[in-house]
Amino acid sequence: MATATAPAKSMPQIVALCKRRGFVFPASEIYGGINGFWDFGPLGTQLKNNLRDAWWQEMVRCPPAGPNGEQLEILGLDSAIIQNPRVWEASGHVSGFSDPMADCRACKARFRADDLIGVELIFPDVPEPNKRNFLICGVGTPEEVLETNTKKIQKLQGANGPYERLSSHHVFSELNEEGRAEFSCPNCGEKGHLTEPREFKLMFETYVGAVRDEKSKTYLRPETAQGIFLNYKNVLDTMRVKLPFGIAQIGKAFRNEVTPRNFIYRSREFEQMEMEWFCRPADAPKWFAFWQERRLTWWRSMGLGAENLRVRPHGADELSHYARGGSGTVDIEYRFPFTDPDFAELEGIAHRTDFDLKAHQTQAGIKLEYFDQEHNARYLPHVVEPAAGLTRGVLAVLCEAYTPDPARPSKVYMRFHPKLAPIQAAVFPLVAKDGMPEVAGKLYRELRGRFTCRLDIKQSIGKRYARMDEAGTPYCFTVDGQTLSDQSVTVRHRDTAAQERIGIDHVTDFLAQRIKG
Ligand code: GAP
Repeated sequence: MATATAPAKSMPQIVALCKRRGFVFPASEIYGGINGFWDFGPLGTQLKNNLRDAWWQEMVRCPPAGPNGEQLEILGLDSAIIQNPRVWEASGHVSGFSDPMADCRACKARFRADDLIGVELIFPDVPEPNKRNFLICGVGTPEEVLETNTKKIQKLQGANGPYERLSSHHVFSELNEEGRAEFSCPNCGEKGHLTEPREFKLMFETYVGAVRDEKSKTYLRPETAQGIFLNYKNVLDTMRVKLPFGIAQIGKAFRNEVTPRNFIYRSREFEQMEMEWFCRPADAPKWFAFWQERRLTWWRSMGLGAENLRVRPHGADELSHYARGGSGTVDIEYRFPFTDPDFAELEGIAHRTDFDLKAHQTQAGIKLEYFDQEHNARYLPHVVEPAAGLTRGVLAVLCEAYTPDPARPSKVYMRFHPKLAPIQAAVFPLVAKDGMPEVAGKLYRELRGRFTCRLDIKQSIGKRYARMDEAGTPYCFTVDGQTLSDQSVTVRHRDTAAQERIGIDHVTDFLAQRIKG
């Protein structure tokens, strides 16, 4: 049913569907919301759990074979969100984890300095000497800046005729003082009131115990990784593992982002799926290459289109404090509708060297070295870290699945990979009489132990299919008049809307074959 040239995906429409169908709601909505925080509804929670479980399956329960076909060992962990504050001093987060931020002196709005963009326009019909370039100012990509300034641009066009777009500039890295003075605040529109960027700490502070003073101050973790480094020795001592091996953890992380935006893409509370791969220093480059390839393959197996994924190495100026001196860092990037045609980070893969273990060894005064019996050597392992965002992964999966289809009653369907779909099968009686609800109820009870299912009895069958299209349910089974005589049901396939009949006894096998695991 989908048309040959796929219509563009609109972010506002994706956000609206997420709310309408119970994927994601703004947090504290009845109190006006709270910027950078989101709640996952019933379908969003199930989708997130499915993506989380698929990652755990790939990383911990059944890790892939290594570059030489060897079996890899990765162990699971669930560490505390709040740790001793010295952890964050050792890790470099207290001193180094910040974003440059600029304020508008006029309206007090605060912006992440590297998000501020000026797009240069020129109006060729304006004769000299009045001809000049205009700077259209805003936050985001140049396209977003132009989009949020359409009224202003229309007004300029009214007075000066059509415009041509020239280059775009990052305000602080590319514009000189004169250019910066031309920059008007994206919030209040006043020119020349922007402060120079200052470092803004990203960690949320909190106090442990009854007394609120410097001694009781600590932080909500900004990454799950440190909990792994803290427990590296515990795992080594209790699980009888040898290098190389991994420790994986999924959990919440918190960052007081200066400008949370693009729906759940950059939020202040989010989930990460991180794995620290401990290996011999000399082998780190090999593992760095291995995990890049493997993680990219995994995202593809979650249904993300190869054309929407790419691997981008970090430039020297982008490297995190812990990755300097290693083989580097790459980002696996996804082409989100709000970055299209550009891409944005979905997962980072970094060679963290022995930075973290060394820092904790020094700060805590506890030996964290590994004794390598094979080489009769004692050393700190190096770490290669694939660090994925679970929340961001859910957004990529939602964006990929969103498929406009004007021919359908719902006008859109969510083309989730069947193993990720929050509802894997729906069961309907065609009408709520003549014994059909009873047969449908029995089938539903048989299926729900193995698959996530919904039984939906009321409303026209067309409306029920439309609801399931929006929920992304890959298969709908309908019990109708014929079922009562020949024990067959119809299966409706979400992606084609085609229907076929199968025996009611075959429904479980039918689903098991298509939804692995
Ligand atoms: N331990 C390394 C680390 O935390 P990172 O690149 O800062 O590296 C890893 O984060 C992943 O966590 C990112 O690729 C992204 O998917 C996710 N992430 C980071 N900040 C986020 C935010 N504010 N909102 C949602 N996801 C975020």
